[in-house]
Amino acid sequence: MHTNNWTHSFRANKMTMTERVQLKSLTFVQSIKTLFFITGIISSVYVLLNISNAKFDNYNYDFSSLLACGKKEHSVFLLMAVPSKAGNFRERMAIRNSWGSVVKQDASIRLFFFVGKEADQKINDTLTMEKETYMDIVELDIRETYKNLVKKITALLQWLTVHCTNTKYILKVDDDVFLNFNLLINYLRNSKPVNSIIGCKLTNAPVVRDKLSKYYISNEEYNPDIFPVYVGGPAYVISGDILGKLYLATNNVSSIFLEDVYINGMCREYINALAVGHPSFSCVTRIKEPCGGYFRNLITGHPYSAGEIERMWMQLNDNITCISSKSYR
Ligand SMILES: *[C@@H]1O[C@H](CO)[C@@H](O)[C@H](O)[C@H]1NC(C)=O
Ligand SMILES: *[C@@H]1O[C@H](CO)[C@@H](O)[C@H](O)[C@H]1NC(C)=O
Ligand SMILES: *[C@@H]1O[C@H](CO)[C@@H](O)[C@H](O)[C@H]1NC(C)=O
Repeated sequence: MHTNNWTHSFRANKMTMTERVQLKSLTFVQSIKTLFFITGIISSVYVLLNISNAKFDNYNYDFSSLLACGKKEHSVFLLMAVPSKAGNFRERMAIRNSWGSVVKQDASIRLFFFVGKEADQKINDTLTMEKETYMDIVELDIRETYKNLVKKITALLQWLTVHCTNTKYILKVDDDVFLNFNLLINYLRNSKPVNSIIGCKLTNAPVVRDKLSKYYISNEEYNPDIFPVYVGGPAYVISGDILGKLYLATNNVSSIFLEDVYINGMCREYINALAVGHPSFSCVTRIKEPCGGYFRNLITGHPYSAGEIERMWMQLNDNITCISSKSYR
């Protein structure tokens, strides 16, 4: 069933890849219209009209992702969106081999990596091959720096707003996160949260005014001394009903460089969506000697290396009891 769908879209992608249109030469509005025409999304006029005012207007959309979310109403239940540096080949492979592998069994689950612009020609060439092999990479025309992270996530939200209007849930998850997929999907299916961003909820976080800190923010950039309630950045779920609104809010809310505070705090508050704290999303740093078995009752944890993520996924699925994780080294 899924295999057929996949084969179908794979062929369609291959075809369009060879006929790849240089979208750069089109204006942004033109390209959005073209995409809607091709994918037959007629019901998205609202977004189409509003998106034409977008502050970003030169994304390098790639037709290989055209059929990313299909056009059927609610055909995608969960889309896992992973921002990833172009050179992080190993990290992406580990995700495909571990929690990301669930997409092979369930067509209503999707996995996409969002990579920024890459200046290194060798990395770029390998990336091109990887893109054609796995068809799960979206390139955004954003330079990859820490300060650009908000821009990248905003671009990601824009891409999803255009391509994935019917998605029920979006999991934004970093490429160093371990995910207990079954726990997450059971929670979403049973609780059916709406108008929400779900994850590790943080309240009363003070704004860092120490000029030497990496997190320093001036009063001009952000005046209050306490951040609004927000949901931590490494892994959070956005309910699909607010995706478009959340993206559009980035046009109206002036940005600070902290992705989670900005998107999940300031923009979320602006559209009156809820920040929902779920205790199984980890707020703190990694478990020292990670074993998949520790994650039986946890949804996420970070940061873990590619090798750890693969090993932990096997341990979790083989019901291995973690006595001392040293024995798995
Ligand atoms: C990377 O490759 C793409 C084609 O896949 C090309 O359009 C782009 O210019 C390349 N970027 C650099 C910096 O070489
Ligand atoms: C952004 O501001 C404009 C103008 O004030 C308003 O019309 C629009 O609804 C706002 N967008 C969102 C998502 O609130
Ligand atoms: C692990 O446990 C679950 C739930 O008890 C069970 O469904 C699954 O088959 C087990 N997996 C293995 C490999 O034993």
